[in-house]
Amino acid sequence: MQRIAVFVSGGGTNLQALLDAQKNNMISHGRIVLVLASNAKAYAIQRAMDNGIESVVVFRKAYGTQDEYDKAIVACMKEHDIDVIVLAGFLSILGKPVIDAYEDKILNIHPSLIPSFCGKGFYGLKVHEEALKRGVKVTGATVHLVNEIPDGGKILKQKAVYVKEGDTPETLQRRVMEEAEWKLLPEAVAELCEKLEEDI
Ligand code: GRF
Repeated sequence: MQRIAVFVSGGGTNLQALLDAQKNNMISHGRIVLVLASNAKAYAIQRAMDNGIESVVVFRKAYGTQDEYDKAIVACMKEHDIDVIVLAGFLSILGKPVIDAYEDKILNIHPSLIPSFCGKGFYGLKVHEEALKRGVKVTGATVHLVNEIPDGGKILKQKAVYVKEGDTPETLQRRVMEEAEWKLLPEAVAELCEKLEEDI
């Protein structure tokens, strides 16, 4: 059984999708055992508490350097015997020590069809603002493995979502979450855990 840590920064709707998938036995080879938040105000922490999941806050600014922060993250993961890390709306940068310690075992959900509208500075509503500004007719979400390049790791899953006439960044974000993110992430997590169990 792969022990999963979900990293969050905001509302935690992707965490909620994972928790619901777990409740519906859709993640048979993994178990969410920890939520790591980048700030104490993330509503995702409340979602963890409501589901009896332990949560920790690791605040980037509490560490003098990226390396100290990365090492604290790795230490926390080892302390909780974590096998798989899922970034679900997580906004802090993870550096080489974390990437190396969990090579090909860190997933991220990005709210566009990578390589469009991704990379440094593209997160949250900004992604959808840029998609609407460019006038794309189709956008969507991507689940990818995390490496040192922001949104640059191997693409695992994508799902297209049509842009509708009159969409605002908010309405588009919501539809991409509902139709793509909340479906893709649990599927990708389940598949990665199953693969890792087979490799044992
Ligand atoms: C959303 O924009 C999502 O696309 C991205 O992070 C933001 C917050 O997600 N991954 P969540 O509600 O905190 O899961």
